[in-house]
Amino acid sequence: MINILMSGCNGKMGQVITRLSEQYGDLKITAGFDIFDSGRNSYPVYSNLEQCKEAIDVIIDFSNPDALENIMRFAVEKKIPIIVATTGISQNQKKLLDSASGTIPVFFSVNMSLGVNLVIDLVRKAARILESNFDIEIIEKHHNQKLDAPSGTALVIADSINSVLELKQEYVYDRHSRRKKRSKSEIGIHAVRGGTIVGEHSIIFAGNDEVIEIRHSAMSKDIFGTGALRAAKFLYRKAPGLYDMNDLIAEE
Ligand SMILES: NC(=O)c1ccc[n+]([C@@H]2O[C@H](COP(=O)([O-])OP(=O)(O)OC[C@H]3O[C@@H](n4cnc5c(N)ncnc54)[C@H](O)[C@@H]3O)[C@@H](O)[C@H]2O)c1
Repeated sequence: MINILMSGCNGKMGQVITRLSEQYGDLKITAGFDIFDSGRNSYPVYSNLEQCKEAIDVIIDFSNPDALENIMRFAVEKKIPIIVATTGISQNQKKLLDSASGTIPVFFSVNMSLGVNLVIDLVRKAARILESNFDIEIIEKHHNQKLDAPSGTALVIADSINSVLELKQEYVYDRHSRRKKRSKSEIGIHAVRGGTIVGEHSIIFAGNDEVIEIRHSAMSKDIFGTGALRAAKFLYRKAPGLYDMNDLIAEE
């Protein structure tokens, strides 16, 4: 049995993971960490990690960058592997993850969906093979409450394509203000907003007389929770080091 400390346990993702973990026979949330206690969990919730007495094998963190120093200090002191899924962490906080990874296994990913990370891997392969003959366009779709555009994941996809191409591509967002032909050195990135779409990313490789489209659709936040629980199984008993979804996919 893998005993998990859920950091940010009373947030949206913490509750998704609490629900999903009940379907697993080999892992269990044994304790939670949160500044807010709803009193509705079947496990004890601590606002001060010093008070946590349960034996923990892996920490999963979906909380807030403000919690990071606290949770990393606890993980390093107790030598517990940690999965950090909280987004918006600073460059200095990233260095904290790097230095902790000398002592404990640290898993960090801003997108814990196994499917999205597999798509990134497939797209990288496709870009390498199709480089000179195909135009690449990315279309992302999200619900009408989303503030940022394009999505962070669309940019991660574009960056990962660029990382394997010899001719580096410029990103062109929307084309309404341009009246000129598409160049060979651009990736078009387009955002659609509407209804309750959880998240969709399509990567289009358009060539002469053939089009390849790689598409991922998210139906709910469960995909991030499932990815985090898989990462917990992956990280348990790993050697100290910095890991991400590529390492997990490579082992699947
Ligand atoms: N990596 C991924 O795939 C992925 C997917 C979804 C969300 N996220 C990220 O996970 C984080 C949480 O997302 P959410 O939607 O559950 O947010 P949320 O606001 O619903 O939950 C955050 C929880 O953390 C707690 N918290 C805040 N500050 C804290 C502190 N200093 N110490 C302890 N607990 C603290 C809050 O009380 C809350 O219960 C965000 O950063 C979000 O962007 C990452």
